Amino acid sequence: MARTAILNVMVQAATKAGRSLIRDFGEVENLQVSRKGPGDFVSAADRKAEEIIREELIKARPTFGLVMEESGEIEGTDGQHRWHVDPLDGTTNFLHGIPIFATSIALERQGQIVAGVIYNPVMDELYTAERGRGAYLNDRRLRVAGRSELTEMVFGTGLPFVGRGDHGLALKEMRYFMPEVAGIRRCGAAAIDLAWTAAGRLDGYWEHKLNSWDIAAGLLMVREAGGYVTDMDGKDKMLENGDVVVGNEFAHRQIMRLLKLAKG
Ligand code: IPD
Ligand code: CA
Ligand code: CA
Repeated sequence: MARTAILNVMVQAATKAGRSLIRDFGEVENLQVSRKGPGDFVSAADRKAEEIIREELIKARPTFGLVMEESGEIEGTDGQHRWHVDPLDGTTNFLHGIPIFATSIALERQGQIVAGVIYNPVMDELYTAERGRGAYLNDRRLRVAGRSELTEMVFGTGLPFVGRGDHGLALKEMRYFMPEVAGIRRCGAAAIDLAWTAAGRLDGYWEHKLNSWDIAAGLLMVREAGGYVTDMDGKDKMLENGDVVVGNEFAHRQIMRLLKLAKG
């Protein structure tokens, strides 16, 4: 698969940041046992990864804007392009020494996401997608899962935690989903949930109130792998409201049905 120049820029930035995260992840495992814990160290690792990505992207495309989790929005001069960057998606996992985290970079052109890269450095899995050109895991073309029986499906989701989200609604959702599905996973990294749905590992995934940097690359990946991608009203406003429902045709329909029941 020949990558375009722009995708190469994104891959270079994501893998360079990933190498930095892996080095720091080794240290986090040592800090777990210290009294102070690895909190400050992880924030520094996160900022360092973002700095690496920002430098790479600005060097390659100096006129593009940036929306980054740590440093906020930097307006570009060309007015047509914006990067959406999460240097470390899965921070809580990283902090706890759980090896499920990723770097996510997406490119928006005139309001549309046209390219996405998600890199999981622990598994050395590089997910890439370009609009109209398919989604790939390393060199393998991706396709969403083919399952059509709800009782065989495994879904990913995000659960709210202290100080975040609607806990009552999440419990209701579990009540409706649990008796009907083969399993529910809470991976702790939205970008990985989306990449794994594109790869057919998860049959579908839903989550509320995410940010553009969590989902922009992954949504393109699922779509390019043949999946359905909407918000919770069945519309295309995921980047505006942060709500996502993805999966193959059957999974998507079932998730929408169960979410409606849970919402009451
Ligand atoms: C978080 C992860 C998590 C999701 C949270 C996000 P972060 O991103 O994607 O899976 O449930 O809502 O904020 O903070 O690890 O970059
Ligand atoms: Ca994130
Ligand atoms: Ca993050």
